[in-house]
Amino acid sequence: MPDLTTTYLGLKLPTPIIVGSSGLTDKAEKIAQLEKHGAGAVVLKSIFEEEILMEYEQLLNEEMPGRYKDDYLDYFDYRIKEVNLDNYLNLIIESRKKVKIPVIASINCSTAHEWTYFARKIQEAGADALELNIFILPSVLAQSAENIEHTYLDIIRSVRNEIKIPLAVKMSYYFSNLAGMIAELSQLNIAGLVLFNRSYSPDIDIEKLEIISAGVFSSSKDLPVSLRWIAIMANRVKCDLAASTGVHDGKAAVKQLLAGANAVQVVSALYENGPEYLETMVKDISDWMTRKKYSKIDDFRGMLSQDRQVNPALFERVQFMKYFSDRDKQKA
Ligand SMILES: Cc1cc2nc3c(=O)[nH]c(=O)nc-3n(C[C@H](O)[C@H](O)[C@H](O)COP(=O)(O)O)c2cc1C
Repeated sequence: MPDLTTTYLGLKLPTPIIVGSSGLTDKAEKIAQLEKHGAGAVVLKSIFEEEILMEYEQLLNEEMPGRYKDDYLDYFDYRIKEVNLDNYLNLIIESRKKVKIPVIASINCSTAHEWTYFARKIQEAGADALELNIFILPSVLAQSAENIEHTYLDIIRSVRNEIKIPLAVKMSYYFSNLAGMIAELSQLNIAGLVLFNRSYSPDIDIEKLEIISAGVFSSSKDLPVSLRWIAIMANRVKCDLAASTGVHDGKAAVKQLLAGANAVQVVSALYENGPEYLETMVKDISDWMTRKKYSKIDDFRGMLSQDRQVNPALFERVQFMKYFSDRDKQKA
């Protein structure tokens, strides 16, 4: 039986499959099940900046419509944050009691505002690490790329200075120089980067003429984006890499490890197939390793990263120039 342990954020994981932040990880009991079925670590459901702000607005409107006194504002702000935070800290404490695998807390934010305080509390509650999910949709015409990048850097620096536990950053690929940005973030004394976040996306119902959701879950076809960037950035960053989005089976996990990931994060595949599906994924990785005669993950991790290729352009080819030549049509 091959050894499936891996190191991520300086933590030892029994398998390279991390259950990503989602409703799958919002209760200690669910987390215990995930561990039983083979999860290497879990990232807890995020505590959301947006959620707290929305709740705050709602409570304000209910309790004092039309009145906006500074004292009240302060009071409500404090109350909502404390309730949300207490619930979250309890989730960390309860999960830590129930499982041996690393429990990574998650904050979803788009400003540096007060997250440093939350981060400290999360550390005190016993989280093994903290993942910051930062997402700024670059849709404001007047906002420069530089300005957005600075916001990322500010959030990370301010949280980093407050805590001692390892910090990971889950990011999107909406950057004008993605490789440069990934490298810059990795130099901020963080322990890991998660490539990439998957955003909630819109679709249009052409019959009802309405904006609808494009679907919450990813598919296996979403894998190549993170696969390309894990391969390009492996050994070029000063931190660990976790691959996220489109990992739907053991084969996809093996591909990401070959590209250079320390671990993969999985969410949609477990929503679709249940937590027991982790066992199938772990077995598929293990069977592949046995077949290829690898006894541990480090025997093959990064073997197909871009920096180890004779033809590094393979990961950078973006145009379909020759795809529809007769020869390619036959192959397709
Ligand atoms: C129902 C659902 C809830 C999610 N909640 C969170 C969350 O709270 N925080 C977060 O960082 N990501 C959240 N995500 C995103 C996932 O962690 C993950 O990045 C995304 O689903 C891509 O991985 P996948 O292809 O394995 O699904 C959620 C995803 C789903 C489907």
